Amino acid sequence: MVNTKINLCGITIDNPIIPASGCFGYGKEFSEFYDINMLGTFSFKGTTKEPRFGNPTPRIAETPSGMINSVGLQNPGVDTVISRELKEMPKYFNKKVMANISGFSQEEYVYCVERISREDQVGWVEVNISCPNVHGGGMSFGVNPDSAYEITKAVKEISLKPVIIKLSPNVTDIAAIAKACESAGADGISLINTVLSMRIDIAKRKPVLANTFGGLSGSCVLPIALRMVYQVYNAVKIPIIGMGGVTTAKDVIEMMMAGATAVQVGAANLVNPYACKEIIEELPIIMEKYKINSLEEIIGGAH
Ligand code: FUM
Repeated sequence: MVNTKINLCGITIDNPIIPASGCFGYGKEFSEFYDINMLGTFSFKGTTKEPRFGNPTPRIAETPSGMINSVGLQNPGVDTVISRELKEMPKYFNKKVMANISGFSQEEYVYCVERISREDQVGWVEVNISCPNVHGGGMSFGVNPDSAYEITKAVKEISLKPVIIKLSPNVTDIAAIAKACESAGADGISLINTVLSMRIDIAKRKPVLANTFGGLSGSCVLPIALRMVYQVYNAVKIPIIGMGGVTTAKDVIEMMMAGATAVQVGAANLVNPYACKEIIEELPIIMEKYKINSLEEIIGGAH
């Protein structure tokens, strides 16, 4: 009998599989397909202080082995997430959830983290300093070590739960940014958010997305994500959540060998709502095939 349990910043979870923020809403719709209590946890949709309608449409473009999104952090705002989504969540999910927080200023991040981290069901706060689809916030905080340090320090001072900082791949030195977050007190790092990209409609001679650029995800980005997780593992001691293009149990093993303690699955859920269920069911079979008794023993195993 193989052991799929892992410890993520002090909380033991049944398996390392975590649907990624933005690809799983607040979990309710997916709970109509299968019992989502089989997940390690899930990261809910990026939440801001005020409600956001998101970017103009079209905001999705297909691409070989992937997709580009420019959703623009559509969400009902942190107060409604607390009073409506988190209130309803125990009816369909009885584990700790990962709260994903975004913002346009340090004050906004602090406001959201302070409130959301008080909630019982919130086990971890994932602070997104890497959204490529909004101006004056999101990724602008995550592309240099100094601003990443400042946001991390500010949210760590008030968070009642472990803080995981979500990083952007759209940088030249991801290790330096991860190190800055660690030295500001981050409990973990998650990476990668989407890769800045675009498509052009050749009949209209215009960008496909109303916002021109968006974030590329899907299996085409897996090798980029693996490279960055590998680099960050060499740079920090705190746990890493690896994500980017994971669609199979073998991809999970690869991500963990690169250095991830847990693994988020994003775009795959949009292609197949059962993606995470299938990965969790396949994981013990792949572990037996490769003679892996416990997942914790393979973290960083490729170094
Ligand atoms: O545009 C979005 O809502 C995506 C957010 C993200 O990639 O962080």
